[in-house]
Amino acid sequence: MTEWQKSGWRAKPRVQMPDYTDEAKLEAVEAQLSKYPPLVFAGEARKLKKALGAASRGDAFLLQGGDCAEAFDQFSANAIRDTFKVMLQMAMVLTFGAKVPVVKVGRMAGQFAKPRSAPTEVVDGLELPSYRGDIINELAFTPEARIPDPAKMLQAYTQAAATLNLLRAFSTGGYADVHQVHQWTLGFTDREESEKYRDMANRISDTLDFMRAAGVDSDRAHTLATVDFYTSHESLLLEYEEALTRQDSTSGKWLAGSGHMIWIGDRTRQPDGAHVEFARGVLNPVGLKCGPTTTAEDLKVLMSKLNPENEAGKLTLIARFGAGKVGEHLPRLIKAVAEEGANVTWVCDPMHGNTIKSSTGYKTRPFDLVLREVREFFAIHNAEGTVPGGVHFEMTGQDVTECTGGVRAVSEENLSDRYHTACDPRLNASQSLELAFLVAEELTSRREAQVATKAG
Ligand code: PEP
Ligand code: CO
Repeated sequence: MTEWQKSGWRAKPRVQMPDYTDEAKLEAVEAQLSKYPPLVFAGEARKLKKALGAASRGDAFLLQGGDCAEAFDQFSANAIRDTFKVMLQMAMVLTFGAKVPVVKVGRMAGQFAKPRSAPTEVVDGLELPSYRGDIINELAFTPEARIPDPAKMLQAYTQAAATLNLLRAFSTGGYADVHQVHQWTLGFTDREESEKYRDMANRISDTLDFMRAAGVDSDRAHTLATVDFYTSHESLLLEYEEALTRQDSTSGKWLAGSGHMIWIGDRTRQPDGAHVEFARGVLNPVGLKCGPTTTAEDLKVLMSKLNPENEAGKLTLIARFGAGKVGEHLPRLIKAVAEEGANVTWVCDPMHGNTIKSSTGYKTRPFDLVLREVREFFAIHNAEGTVPGGVHFEMTGQDVTECTGGVRAVSEENLSDRYHTACDPRLNASQSLELAFLVAEELTSRREAQVATKAG
């Protein structure tokens, strides 16, 4: 393979990227961005890689979550705080089920560019280029708004930097104090299903009481008050990614400075394409979406390109097949991984294979399908003897009505109440936390089955 260069992707076929019309403006923006500081550092990316390596062995569990698309007009401290807080709450619940550390990675501080199923969109007979995320063009349905503008990369950088700054501040601030565990489930108390959450909340607070009584709480208060929180996004807009790529002075390796982890989407994973070419050369942990059309042959090529040294934690395979389809696809890909002896971290994205159009016209995801895909993912890993290393959700800390279902049921008629996503429907705070309790149950029964096997 030829030696990697950060601009090497330019010689490869590209899909899902804008054709900028103003070349001079594009070059000026790239030149400016490449002088800006990177948003993350190599040591942090390495630390995350190590944590993901632990997840690949079942010694940690990944919780990756956040917006489908971050939006300029929804940027606020409260929105960041609320998503961060719900993720910490979910992580606490998952830790209780998994009995291993939960690695927290936001789809935040860079998740701006979107692949689309069609290049254009028709509304009332007018055809315009599709919206591709705020880093590229605008959601408004006018010809001007849909023209890709390179200057939006600078605004995205500024928003990402400010977001990361706040996340770093919150990470040391004890934001989701675990002693509040009972408060978190208050919204669930009106239904029978909430019994099991309260039961788990009781067990968590019993554990905390015990720790306090044993004097552990005061010694370890710092551990509970500070967290490692990482950022991630789809590495789609390669001009932006290249401009933020920096050489690490200690190792001489290249860092994608735009976020701790980057991933390759289901539509841009062509083994000889531009996106794979870019991602194969950076030292960051890399995610690869695997969908129903991922073939075993492609996966083998992709694994050797994206993780040439077969490092643990380097490559995360994010399965997104859709409820009812996991059994058809996951086993054949697990087999391909085994045949290569490849180190991978398996993660379940139960969102992208379960998007439907509701009777009221909104794009939505039924909570039951999301949960079903997670359960199928666990069941197959349990049957195959492989490790379910984490979950990947589109979610927000806001009380939106974008996905249907959950114990505080959102109906198809409710969808119009608070439907704010710039792209795909997200789980709201209550649905996210509920899902965490249900995933924790899966983790608990998996652990109990393993203990029983060992004992027997
Ligand atoms: C996404 O994660 O927002 C996305 C577009 O996913 P996928 O590439 O799996 O469709
Ligand atoms: Co999405």
